[in-house]
Amino acid sequence: MSQPLDLLEIKDFLVKLALEAGELITSKTGKTEFVDKANSVDLVTETDAAVEKLVAERVAATYPDFEFMGEESYVPGETKLGEKPTFVVDPIDGTTNFIHSFPFSCTSLGFTVNREPVVGVVYNPFLKLMYTGVKGHGSFLNDERLPLRKSVSKLTLQNALIGIEWGTQRSGPNYKCKVDTFNKLAAEDGAMVHGFRSLGSAAMNICAVAAGMLDAYWEGGCYAWDVAAGWIILSEAGGRMVGGNPGLWNPAVDERVYLAVKADEGSEQFINDFWGSMVGKLDY
Ligand code: IPD
Repeated sequence: MSQPLDLLEIKDFLVKLALEAGELITSKTGKTEFVDKANSVDLVTETDAAVEKLVAERVAATYPDFEFMGEESYVPGETKLGEKPTFVVDPIDGTTNFIHSFPFSCTSLGFTVNREPVVGVVYNPFLKLMYTGVKGHGSFLNDERLPLRKSVSKLTLQNALIGIEWGTQRSGPNYKCKVDTFNKLAAEDGAMVHGFRSLGSAAMNICAVAAGMLDAYWEGGCYAWDVAAGWIILSEAGGRMVGGNPGLWNPAVDERVYLAVKADEGSEQFINDFWGSMVGKLDY
């Protein structure tokens, strides 16, 4: 019979690996050329590939029987997230931040079983923010348990500070849905939310929701490696991840459309109100 998985041991392994990856990332900041992927705002650097290689090698040496899915080695249409234990990795989430020396990029190291995120480590080496989460064991920022702060008042759409991203598609129906929805949420004759923030990294945004610094984060277009680690950090902090389109209460980790909401008694109403404010639907 196979051994039960020791999730805490996997978390410790990922923390050490994230620190090692962080040294590589900070040593290259301001020194790496970038190239375009899909278009001139979808960017990648040599350091993304170098960090993924480091992570993949360490994972293969320590957990040779487990699967690996990484942003840089992903082959569209071929790489699929399956039921086996899988490391789901974004070597640098927030590559555009990395290129611009805006200190909000991180290494996002997730671990899934049956496609469910069960361990997550997100490390921002510039600000030394180490977020960790393990199923059944809570989540932490450095040594502090999440959420760091509870709501002062019940969460409502109107009172919310919401993480958003423009994404790399800057035309077409998804872009229109985002821009029209941002407008409706912000406008005086719409929800008139408190504000929006863009940290430039899905993992950093989700962890900010887990910590209670953002009330929610809405995203369309990112991938499993952007969200897997943050997802378990969020859910262990009492928050919830639902889909980025109305009615998606139980999204898959590779759903590509997400709404992360902090722990709050008003979260269900907030989710319904957010979905009700969307102008159109996202389709990735
Ligand atoms: C991107 C960031 C960004 C999100 C994009 C992601 P990358 O990841 O997380 O915030 O809006 O969808 O692709 O390219 O920096 O690893």
